[in-house]
Amino acid sequence: MTVRVAPPTEVLRKEVQHRYTEVATKPDQTFHFHHGWPMAEILGYAMDRVDAMPLQAVESFAGVGNPFSLGSIQPGETVLDVGSGAGFDCFIAGQAVGPKGKVIGVDMTEAMLEKARGTAQQMGLEQVEFRHGFIEELPVPDASIDVAISNGVINLCPDKYKAFEEVFRTLKAGGRLYLADIVVHKPVPDAAKANVDLWTA
Ligand SMILES: C[S@@+](CC[C@H](N)C(=O)[O-])C[C@H]1O[C@@H](n2cnc3c(N)ncnc32)[C@H](O)[C@@H]1O
Repeated sequence: MTVRVAPPTEVLRKEVQHRYTEVATKPDQTFHFHHGWPMAEILGYAMDRVDAMPLQAVESFAGVGNPFSLGSIQPGETVLDVGSGAGFDCFIAGQAVGPKGKVIGVDMTEAMLEKARGTAQQMGLEQVEFRHGFIEELPVPDASIDVAISNGVINLCPDKYKAFEEVFRTLKAGGRLYLADIVVHKPVPDAAKANVDLWTA
């Protein structure tokens, strides 16, 4: 018999949405993780490009790495950002794919989507689109994506196998995955798995 240790998926999603609504709407608050412009600098993003973006494109950035350090993105390609948040990586990808390419950001938190859509409009990036959805049921057709990126998101998903299955379903043959996330190198104790605060961290 399998004993479920993690809180139910609906509970975790609600908590994650609550946490990231705060990151979207109150980015000046202190969180237990670095975010925004200082985190982009720590992670080695090209700061001349970051400085050229409007404040709202950067202030709610909550990634843990730099997916663009893992490979290139070519003009005309289709990019999927899995858990796109306020859209920071989508705007960088949007500039890389250019007007003939496409970037699709998927996120489950309305406040993040609303902010990301407003910024894309402000930046004139018509090739960048944001869709509401869950990573475990991506609203994206099979074999339609050249590059999937994700930054600090899969660690928040209780069903990681399903998340990866979905990402690979959307990739074209030969498609690439540039993934930045948190990895723990030893077994996570059950008490930690049951702690909602640690899940949303
Ligand atoms: C740590 S933030 C990272 C956001 C963005 N990648 C960035 O670098 O700024 C995590 C984001 O993933 C989203 N998220 C977490 N679990 C999700 C799921 N199962 N389906 C869709 N979005 C999810 C949250 O709503 C939040 O916006």
